[in-house]
Amino acid sequence: MSKTIIVSNRLPIKITKENKDYEFKISEGGLATGLGSIYREGNNVWIGWCGMEIEEKDQELISNKLHDKNLSPVFLTEEEIHFYYEGFSNETLWPIFHYVSTYAQYDQQYWDHYKKVNEKFKTAVLAIAEPGDIIWIHDYQLLLLPQLIRDHLPNSSIGFFQHIPFPSFELFRLIPWRAELLNGMLGSDLIGFHTYDDVRHFTSSATRILPVQTAANVIHKGDRNITIDAFPMGIDAQKFNALTLSKDVIKRKEEFNHLVGDNKIILSIDRLDYSKGIVQRLMAFDEVLAEHPEYINKISLHMIVVPSRDSIPQYRDLRDDIDKLVGNINSRYRTAAWHPIHYFYRSFPIEDLSALYSRANICLVTPMRDGMNLVSKEFIASKTDETGVLILSEMAGASKELIDAIIVNPNNLGEMSRAIVQALEMSEDEQKSRMISLRDIVNKFDINHWVKIFMDQLEEVKAHEKSRMAKHVSNDLIRAFKNKLHKAKKRVFFLDYDGTLVNFKSNPLEASPDSELYQLIENLNKDKKNQIVIISGRKHETLGSWFGHLPLDLIAEHGAWQKKFGEDWIETPNLSDKWKITVRPMLESYSDRTPGSFIEEKRFSLAWHYRKVEKGLGELRANELISNMRYLTREKGLQLLPGNKVVEIKNSEINKGKAASNYIFGKDYDFILAMGDDHTDEDIFEHLPEEAITIKVGSSVSEAKYYLRDVEEVRNLLHEVIS
Ligand code: UDP
Ligand code: G6P
Repeated sequence: MSKTIIVSNRLPIKITKENKDYEFKISEGGLATGLGSIYREGNNVWIGWCGMEIEEKDQELISNKLHDKNLSPVFLTEEEIHFYYEGFSNETLWPIFHYVSTYAQYDQQYWDHYKKVNEKFKTAVLAIAEPGDIIWIHDYQLLLLPQLIRDHLPNSSIGFFQHIPFPSFELFRLIPWRAELLNGMLGSDLIGFHTYDDVRHFTSSATRILPVQTAANVIHKGDRNITIDAFPMGIDAQKFNALTLSKDVIKRKEEFNHLVGDNKIILSIDRLDYSKGIVQRLMAFDEVLAEHPEYINKISLHMIVVPSRDSIPQYRDLRDDIDKLVGNINSRYRTAAWHPIHYFYRSFPIEDLSALYSRANICLVTPMRDGMNLVSKEFIASKTDETGVLILSEMAGASKELIDAIIVNPNNLGEMSRAIVQALEMSEDEQKSRMISLRDIVNKFDINHWVKIFMDQLEEVKAHEKSRMAKHVSNDLIRAFKNKLHKAKKRVFFLDYDGTLVNFKSNPLEASPDSELYQLIENLNKDKKNQIVIISGRKHETLGSWFGHLPLDLIAEHGAWQKKFGEDWIETPNLSDKWKITVRPMLESYSDRTPGSFIEEKRFSLAWHYRKVEKGLGELRANELISNMRYLTREKGLQLLPGNKVVEIKNSEINKGKAASNYIFGKDYDFILAMGDDHTDEDIFEHLPEEAITIKVGSSVSEAKYYLRDVEEVRNLLHEVIS
């Protein structure tokens, strides 16, 4: 039976060494709780680093101890911790992904170790994984792992979730190893982020950096489809609700109340990190005290900063800055009995956090950038009396869901200090109305919901991939086609030209037939039972010059012209091209505004090509053109056809499907094969009789029964069926 393997940089444990003996404590973090229902089951397992360097002689002992808990450790050397964890993960990726590019280090040694440690994780996964297993990889420390595993287990289901933001292309492109990172991630079947903005940024980076195609939230890479989606992560809301009612927490809250009396408490909880905006938050608090002396003695800021990554210079400097600023503010405003800031540089047990959350009047969560931010959700889940105010940075992923918080821009100190005052003065009615809707969201979209929707979607995506793969023309199918062909007495091959028989070129006229293609056609023609029809959107003059001398039939300009071997071109009767007088100037206005685009004029159509236009701009203009012309084309009885980097406008009476079905009418073909790569070929697939073999090239999303990956596979198929 298949199993599920979770992989993350850290295992969900805290490990400490007391007198040569190792102590383990299972982490209480949301992710550990949410995934607990998965990794503890049966043969499932969680693979990760245990957070410290373990001497080689102790490694086996630790592995054995963790094995019973379904945990499997990866051991990192001091050097690996330095270069892979502190280095590439936290001094290259972390600053870039949090938009602080000036902190980013691009160090070859960091990158070499990042690759090496990702390989180490791969070895650990492969030691356990079998074909068919589900593998769920977490976060930026393991971006290369999905593809490393895919190389060995091509059919496994691989999900990847990134817990931190994905930056815009302009930031991501700065990383020297950007293409390798994207290729690594795209080894997954499903990639999840917290917000839709991250999805957009990732997709845009992938399409700009790699030769991949996208359709909605699916990236096509080679023969694989990768789904990219937003899964905003929740917390264990039930646990935080329940904790506030536990005796232990009530006692801690009473003790705390005793100390702070009636003071309004503003709470701030973060890991030490420059992405959290701690310094800016202190400055805003300073401004409140400076501008509103009436709050002196009445409010206090309880600030917990959890030590983190303090061997990295920027983190050490940040700690010093916070120390100085807290000292400065306290020394200026304190009174004999009152401190404006209670600052703790350590971590607290969850019971203390719960007591603080439920007692606090305001929770101040103002990161400069944050993938999600769970503290904001834990505060809400702990407000069982439905009072309290959340002030939340618009740069945190959570702000997309928690819209009833007071949302602030953390770069705007004035706005932050006004938000603090607004929260201090907010009526209980308003607090409750906001808190009730915030609690609805946090309680409903909790960690279990998050795990379920991610796993369900991974299963769905994989099932879809499997059925799609079944449509690919395999060697077995080729044999079946050959059998059918041998039995047939009268065969016709409808072959589209660009993207099917030859690859695209920037200049359409450069894509002329090569000698291999001519040879292939000649071989097909040797058997007199075969009839080749080249059916293309190309100008009839061009097709004529390339194929007119060969014993085959031609359909040009999507069906506007037809030519039988040895005869002249015949035009479809009663077609008008007067509409061009109105449409051409409109297309010209798009060409004038879009460097690299050009217009191609055919007898009954006009095509606007954007193959050479800057990526993104071409698509933008094409969409604009389609939407602006929709009304006009309908009025004039025209068709608007979005193709591969081209928009074509033509008489609506013409289409390849009608041309193909007219062609076979009354001819009793007992073998029909049609191949094409774009939108206009879909008409052929729809119009041909059920027994026809229809094959889409380059994509599996089609009316066609089967698909091939590329021109090479098309040529190979034609070669095989005639051999
Ligand atoms: N936390 C903790 N002990 C503390 C302070 C915080 O365990 O003393 C937890 C907190 O409950 C939350 C997590 O640390 O679950 C912080 O998550 P968040 O998403 O806010 O930030 P991250 O540290 O992941 O960037
Ligand atoms: C963020 C990251 C996690 C990371 C955590 C703590 O939440 O998304 O992957 O584990 O910070 O950072 P640390 O460097 O201590 O593992």
